[in-house]
Amino acid sequence: MEDISLHLLDLAQNSISAGASLVEIFIVEDTHKGQMIVTLRDNGHGMDESQVKRVTDPFFTTRNTRRVGLGIPLFQASAEATGGQMYIKSCKGRGTEIKAVFHTTHIDCLPLGRVDDTILSLILLNPEINFVYSHKKQDKHFLLDTRQIREVLGQVSIENPSVIEWIRKYLSDGLEEINGGV
Ligand SMILES: Nc1ncnc2c1ncn2[C@@H]1O[C@H](COP(=O)(O)OP(=O)(O)OP(=O)(O)O)[C@@H](O)[C@H]1O
Ligand SMILES: [Mg+2]
Repeated sequence: MEDISLHLLDLAQNSISAGASLVEIFIVEDTHKGQMIVTLRDNGHGMDESQVKRVTDPFFTTRNTRRVGLGIPLFQASAEATGGQMYIKSCKGRGTEIKAVFHTTHIDCLPLGRVDDTILSLILLNPEINFVYSHKKQDKHFLLDTRQIREVLGQVSIENPSVIEWIRKYLSDGLEEINGGV
């Protein structure tokens, strides 16, 4: 995988396949500690204990079109390549949480990439699903919650081009700000 935002796109796809109506992505960057924690949480159908154990094994997948599921093992490998770790918590019928710790000063740490593009694509491709994107960096915090946007929109669809354009700008301005831009 080229960057972490593409991993997130892939993991969110699992959540959507699991019937989630809410997908939450949390990123916490601590530049002093050289650590980044990336969490994806959904309210999909979850996995039981044995599925969770097997999910980090690339020969386990419930897809029947193809034998090997690689999304989670690749995410785990990217975290472990930096000396970090990945954790999965899942509860059948309730949802799943996947969390990975990246050591950002490690030479093999992937760049974060365009999380704003990932979030925008997820919203555009899945207008019926709600997304939360929370990004903390030191004392700065950016938050996007499509439930709040929908509340303001009332009858207007989130797919409306001017709404999408507003979300795109809100994301890019917000990220520029937490990354120290103007
Ligand atoms: N969020 C989730 N909720 C419920 N089940 C999940 C979730 N994420 C993964 N799984 C289960 O774990 C399996 C492995 O996931 P993984 O992303 O590694 O591979 P895949 O989605 O099957 O294939 P690929 O990602 O390579 O297209 C999935 O097939 C699914 O059964
Ligand atoms: Mg997958």
